[in-house]
Amino acid sequence: MTEVPLFATSLAPYNDRLTEAIARVIPTRRFILGPEVEAFEREFADYLGVGHCVGVGNGTDGLTIALRALGIAPGDEVVMPSFTFYATAEAAITAGAKPVFCDIDLDTFCVTVDTVREALTPRTKAIVPVHLFGNPAPVPDLREFGLPILEDAAQAAGASLDGVKAGALGDAAAFSFFPSKNLPCLGDGGAITTDDDDVAERARVLRFHGSKDKSTFIEVGYNSRLDEVQAAALRVLLPELDGWNAKRREAAAAYERVGLGEHVTLPKATDGAQHAYHLYVVRGENLPLGRGYYRVPVHRQPAIASDADLPATEEAARTNVALPMGPELTEDQVRTVVEACASRST
Ligand SMILES: Cc1ncc(COP(=O)(O)O)c(C=O)c1O
Repeated sequence: MTEVPLFATSLAPYNDRLTEAIARVIPTRRFILGPEVEAFEREFADYLGVGHCVGVGNGTDGLTIALRALGIAPGDEVVMPSFTFYATAEAAITAGAKPVFCDIDLDTFCVTVDTVREALTPRTKAIVPVHLFGNPAPVPDLREFGLPILEDAAQAAGASLDGVKAGALGDAAAFSFFPSKNLPCLGDGGAITTDDDDVAERARVLRFHGSKDKSTFIEVGYNSRLDEVQAAALRVLLPELDGWNAKRREAAAAYERVGLGEHVTLPKATDGAQHAYHLYVVRGENLPLGRGYYRVPVHRQPAIASDADLPATEEAARTNVALPMGPELTEDQVRTVVEACASRST
């Protein structure tokens, strides 16, 4: 059988421009918090339609720093899904908070207003919806709770909901530029985005050891900056993001057109969403092909061990399979995958 790669993203067409960008940084000898980071922060904030972007070392630190910048303090509860990458919860614990896990909608893989409501307590101080697999969580619906909302947008660069970009929907958002993400850098990288001047200012202080001026330390922070080389690479790749995501959506449409839905349960975009299809995750019984995500959801990880009762999360963990997805996936490859699903599901 023809092998179809699970991730079909290649940076080969950008090799020369990436190399030039790195070469531009080296002679400046400014590798940390210089002009490339400043320019990328402006360009990414403008792309998303938010006031501020603060480059950080990775998406996990972005979540931790953003929670603290939003005022989360030790002992506070933060409601989040369990069906996500472990880092969502880890970041809250690093910030001193207690993650409280809510269930998801099985079709969208995202939290809903009802699943979040069930997890709220008087100690809840923030909600962290995750735009899982690139599908925007219904952030505007969660406003009714009157709590700060931090989007985990690690998987959702370029997605949008009712015309508003993921990263501009909540009070703040955290992105990851890990190399497999829709907007990748060449190592670890991340960003916090927000419209709130005070949150942005506090995030800038926290990413630099809790200091504004590098000599007076006003709180205990982190050493977590996006570096100049990564920012220079991201400035080459950001203009490609919308084109790549359009191709991801075309591949998703091809899966539907070719009849994948006859064999497995297809992912559903949130109402009003432009899905970014970071991953194309279907559900089905006995589907040995592809890779299942978050088979052991966060609330059942040894380091967490919460006794939350989350039936949709358990079902998603058991039955999900990621099929090949990426800007370069061809219609022929889509057909090959659908044929493989057809033969396994009968
Ligand atoms: C949903 C989610 N949250 C957070 C992270 C953490 O990002 P990073 O690996 O850049 O720390 C990731 C990705 O790895 C992720 O997929």
